[in-house]
Amino acid sequence: MNRREFVKGSVALMAVAMINPNFIFAAENLKWWQKKPVYQIYPKSFLDTTGKGTGDLRGIIRKLDYIKSLNVGAIWLTPIYPSPMIDNGYDISDYTGINPLFGTMEDFDELIAEAKARDIKIVMDLVFNHSSDKHSWFIESKSSRDNPKADWYIWRDEKTNWRSIFGGSAWQWCEERQQYYLHTFAKEQPDLNWENPDVRRALFDAANFWLKKGVGGFRIDAIVYIKKPEKFLDGTPDADGTCSVHNMTANTPGILDFLHELKREVFDGHDIFTVGEANSVKPEELPAWVGERGVFNMLFEFSHVNIMFTNGDDVWHRSKPIKLSEFKKALSDSQRATRGSWYPIYFENHDKPRSVDNFFPHGTDKILAAKAMATILFTLRGTPFVYQGEELGFTNTKFDSIDDYDDISSRGAYNLARADGLSDKEALKFVWKFSRDNARTPMQWNTSINAGFTGGKAWLPVHDDFKTCNVEVEERDADSVLNFYRKMSRLRNSSEVLLNGDYEELYPNNEEIFVYTRTLGLKKFIIAVNFTTHDVKLPAKIFDGAKKISGNYSDEKNYLRATEAVIYEL
Ligand code: NOJ
Repeated sequence: MNRREFVKGSVALMAVAMINPNFIFAAENLKWWQKKPVYQIYPKSFLDTTGKGTGDLRGIIRKLDYIKSLNVGAIWLTPIYPSPMIDNGYDISDYTGINPLFGTMEDFDELIAEAKARDIKIVMDLVFNHSSDKHSWFIESKSSRDNPKADWYIWRDEKTNWRSIFGGSAWQWCEERQQYYLHTFAKEQPDLNWENPDVRRALFDAANFWLKKGVGGFRIDAIVYIKKPEKFLDGTPDADGTCSVHNMTANTPGILDFLHELKREVFDGHDIFTVGEANSVKPEELPAWVGERGVFNMLFEFSHVNIMFTNGDDVWHRSKPIKLSEFKKALSDSQRATRGSWYPIYFENHDKPRSVDNFFPHGTDKILAAKAMATILFTLRGTPFVYQGEELGFTNTKFDSIDDYDDISSRGAYNLARADGLSDKEALKFVWKFSRDNARTPMQWNTSINAGFTGGKAWLPVHDDFKTCNVEVEERDADSVLNFYRKMSRLRNSSEVLLNGDYEELYPNNEEIFVYTRTLGLKKFIIAVNFTTHDVKLPAKIFDGAKKISGNYSDEKNYLRATEAVIYEL
């Protein structure tokens, strides 16, 4: 194109844009993974087709039409690779296989094909910071100090005072090598040594194996820990004499070099999306991690889900009550920082409590709260991630004793609280609040035994609300949380403003309501959510002249009722 043609083209574009300002931002310019939500599945708890008490791949295949009804573009599966399941699959013993607990490679191929037939892609979880201690790489590495894989993991003669994320020392003594190895998570999850190029190559090859199978992308686990500091030093100890490994190793300078290599060797040139899990990357650092200059398409940073913790180490019994203004600030900061890139909107996943219990005061109506969270999930700018059960309004569970908990981090957090002087009852209260088992109770399909999840003994007890909160019952109720999710998903999908409009927050210091706008050209949506259990007057007549297009109450008022969430169009 010569200069004259270029100028002519630009003038024409400007003219079209003046007539229709939405043209420049047209949703056609968005990628497939920006247009539709992602549905996250925890396969162990989804649907059991064999009666063994744990979910499987065939269960997911059976429910693809249900998933499709939520209008999703991709399914993210938490790890399904061979694993001793110490951390429910995040301890991988073979990066290119399928755990027999979940099925076979043929089942996986069928899942990819059946999902594709419904225009849904399958996204895999890459767990590259650590492997299982049963992985052949580790077995070799620990066997002697001079075997070919001797430095595939992090070995030291001396240990530091670092505490692993699941509790206890982050160092484990190995008799065979007469050395300690580092484990950021459980002792059965030794950290891989990314400084070794052979390790990186082996991991990249594994990811490429799944790309050849046709997967639609990757969620990359615990990625902030792959780079270790040059010197291993003791940190400032807590009361129990240890200090969180997170505070000593997360986001170490130089990490982005490794990640750019991962991008070059695996991601580049494929029509996939990538989302990194990056606890403690700050909103102002996001441009180096996502978008044009970054590594990933999106980043799960934890700012809005970890506001109850004072630093990134998530000590449950030191959590503080949530301030709405802080929650809103975290979301707004991330929205602003990803204005030129993209954001994964999420309130739940397999590690977090159910959001209706997490973000609302005690006594809140759970159905209103679930719909309020859905309103935010589908109206911020970014790709909504829906976690299984969230679309039904799942709530936290409660077990009587710490021994009833399966989640390894619950036991670590409980022990840490006890070591800090809390009684059994006091420590258990924090487990009820934050246990990852809250998110892992089985999916509730119907009112039959075990909510239709299994014909056998469920590996984790089904929530006792399953008679009213399940797919079959909610399908039939036009007003259910499930049908609200479907409506919100369709609304977002059909609205250029919600897909790509600009985000602006109103009243950031208000501790009762969350109000923001999405604007595209001349079109504007106003979203308002009341986080209290009482009526709240609006600070201004913001809805005047606007039309209500969605809400969790059927009628309209000029104030917000308890837990009310509305969307107005100007
Ligand atoms: C983050 C995962 O989401 C969590 O479930 C897991 O335990 C840790 N990373 C360790 O892989």
